[in-house]
Amino acid sequence: MADAFSSPLREVLHAGCPVVCCETHEEARLDEVVTAIAAELGVPLVRWSLLDAPVGTPPVEALAAQLAALREGTGPLILLLADVHGFLTEPVVSRAIRSFVARAPKGRRMILVSPLFRVPPELEHDVVVLSLPLPEPGDLAAVAAETLASLQLAAPADALAAIGDALRGLTGSEARWVVRKAVRSANGGLPDASIVLREKGWRFSQVEAMEMVADDVPFDRLGGLDELKRWMGERREAFSRRARDFGLPPPRGLMLMGVQGCGKSLAAKAIARFWQIPIVRLDMGMIIGHAYPEAVLRRAIRIAEAMAPVVLWVDEIEKGFSGENAGTSRRLLGGFVTWLQEKREPVFVVATANEVEALPPELPRKGRFDEIFFVDLPNHHERREIFEIHLGARGRAPAPFDLETLVRKAEKFSGSEIEQAVLSALYAAFSAGRDLQNADLLGAVAETVPLATTFEDRLKALREWARTRARPATLDRRKLDAFKT
Ligand SMILES: Nc1ncnc2c1ncn2[C@@H]1O[C@H](COP(=O)(O)OP(=O)(O)OP(=O)(O)O)[C@@H](O)[C@H]1O
Ligand SMILES: [Mg+2]
Repeated sequence: MADAFSSPLREVLHAGCPVVCCETHEEARLDEVVTAIAAELGVPLVRWSLLDAPVGTPPVEALAAQLAALREGTGPLILLLADVHGFLTEPVVSRAIRSFVARAPKGRRMILVSPLFRVPPELEHDVVVLSLPLPEPGDLAAVAAETLASLQLAAPADALAAIGDALRGLTGSEARWVVRKAVRSANGGLPDASIVLREKGWRFSQVEAMEMVADDVPFDRLGGLDELKRWMGERREAFSRRARDFGLPPPRGLMLMGVQGCGKSLAAKAIARFWQIPIVRLDMGMIIGHAYPEAVLRRAIRIAEAMAPVVLWVDEIEKGFSGENAGTSRRLLGGFVTWLQEKREPVFVVATANEVEALPPELPRKGRFDEIFFVDLPNHHERREIFEIHLGARGRAPAPFDLETLVRKAEKFSGSEIEQAVLSALYAAFSAGRDLQNADLLGAVAETVPLATTFEDRLKALREWARTRARPATLDRRKLDAFKT
């Protein structure tokens, strides 16, 4: 058994590491692996969970007694402990672990298992935390086959492989529910992979801080940002086998920073659609507010890696690293940056940000992202495109409208303000009982005070920041646009 799940644990145990915390939701799978490793090492295995605490004994005391027995005893032994992560901060428990490590009785080891660990600072140097990967598509296909069989259904091999692929990012037991739910959605028949994907989205909505994004945004719904589009165009086949054989590493990620409402989020979705790969949104604000932020981030990374190739969209990344608790933010940032630099799996990170003051300076440094793009207010040409896109999206051809005048009057408008103006013009026409006229659009534009006018200073600071650190997502803005600040 040499796989990504068991190998890291086998390595640290063979290396004699005395305390290992294994982060996984799959206790049964871990148990199998530990059983196999114990057999390889020829060491007896003892399991302990809260259910083994004698009735009437406080759990902390029972645990401390167990740890003392491990420390004082002789002869090799592996102790597999479940349910104890919540006690790591108890002084008597952390002390027991530290003295166990200090004495390091020969051949005695303990393995702790929990979905998430928060290791208190006093134990940081004594324990190893392994974040164990989620099942591979082949294992998930096997789980799906088993679940389908229990419902008297069978799938041909290729359909099963597609289902296994669609289930990536889930644990075995989650995959089982998702398959059952998909069968229900398919009226008791064999679900195809697209139904399974939809049900996975439902499951994901319950995982804290993560969400599968289902919006289908082609690049032609994103106005302007030609440099970004050109950059993507050069990487059309970046995740293909051909690119790999050519010696190209998969692209690592982009940072999109810039003005509010100008298409950063839209671009993240368009990027995933362009490559035909799924996109998962990570909510950094939610992570920093969690009781175990580092563990939640590790879990998110584990899920993204299991789903690779995937776009991991870290929206408002600055929120995750500017929490009130500076220590937590720093550790979180450290973990994230290390992963960004060392990741092997094709997880393409799209980080979006609009508050540069809150952005830790080490994040936008070269080598972490392939490129940092600055998304500015749309120039003249881009505003025209955005008008056309939003008129088109509401079934109106642009020809009857005087776009030149509109675009000129909509100076300093963001993409989202242009969209809002088109919508309010449509409402005006609708309530007047006729179709959209140029005057409705002109009126809506005249009534809008763009945010950029109100926050001129912030905009200036943002541009100043970007001048030396980022590449414009649109080339030659000044040539194309008369607008100056
Ligand atoms: N370049 C654009 N082309 C077409 N539509 C746009 C563009 N920019 C913005 N929009 C419209 O405005 C909406 C909001 O844009 P989006 O969410 O992408 O902005 P953002 O840059 O992510 O803003 P924030 O910084 O507030 O998150 C989009 O859903 C889209 O309808
Ligand atoms: Mg956004």
